[in-house]
Amino acid sequence: MAQKTLFICIFVAIMATSIAEAQELAGTVYVNGTLYCTANGDPGPIRNTTPIFANAAMQVNCSGDVISNSPATATTNAIGAYRVVLTPRPTATVDSIVSNCRLFVLTPLSNCNPTLPSAGLVSNLRFDKTATIPLFYIGGVPVAFSRVTFMIATGFTPQA
Ligand SMILES: *[C@@H]1O[C@H](CO)[C@@H](O)[C@H](O)[C@H]1NC(C)=O
Ligand SMILES: *[C@@H]1O[C@H](CO)[C@@H](O)[C@H](O)[C@H]1NC(C)=O
Repeated sequence: MAQKTLFICIFVAIMATSIAEAQELAGTVYVNGTLYCTANGDPGPIRNTTPIFANAAMQVNCSGDVISNSPATATTNAIGAYRVVLTPRPTATVDSIVSNCRLFVLTPLSNCNPTLPSAGLVSNLRFDKTATIPLFYIGGVPVAFSRVTFMIATGFTPQA
């Protein structure tokens, strides 16, 4: 019984959060992709055999006051995948985030391969898509949803 009450409280709290987010122009922003252990972080033509870059520190830094959690950080997982979550200011637009924010690889490339430079990478962002994703499940059934704007790196270059 207590558990059921707790579920309902969490459910109401999450619904309130997702309604608040829906009113923002950009919603929550996910910057995601896969980082490879190459000079520009790209897989090149032979994606399946290109080594990935695990445990790399990723950071989105924004000039201007477009997100409330700058710098936003994440770490690549065991298969090189990362997802940096940005919380846009209520007045922020997709365009203002694209023009003010950049994605950094802070961990030097030499950490995944000693023959690569001991420098990080930086990329601009671009809009990919908007999607409604499940936020909360009860008994395996999604009961709350959130609008998410997906952005991706345009292409990494060495960080000066
Ligand atoms: C980012 O994540 C979404 C949702 O999981 C996925 O559809 C999309 O392909 C990912 N983008 C990249 C570049 O991996
Ligand atoms: C990102 O911004 C923070 C805070 O302003 C700063 O300390 C950090 O050096 C910046 N990182 C990069 C890679 O520019």
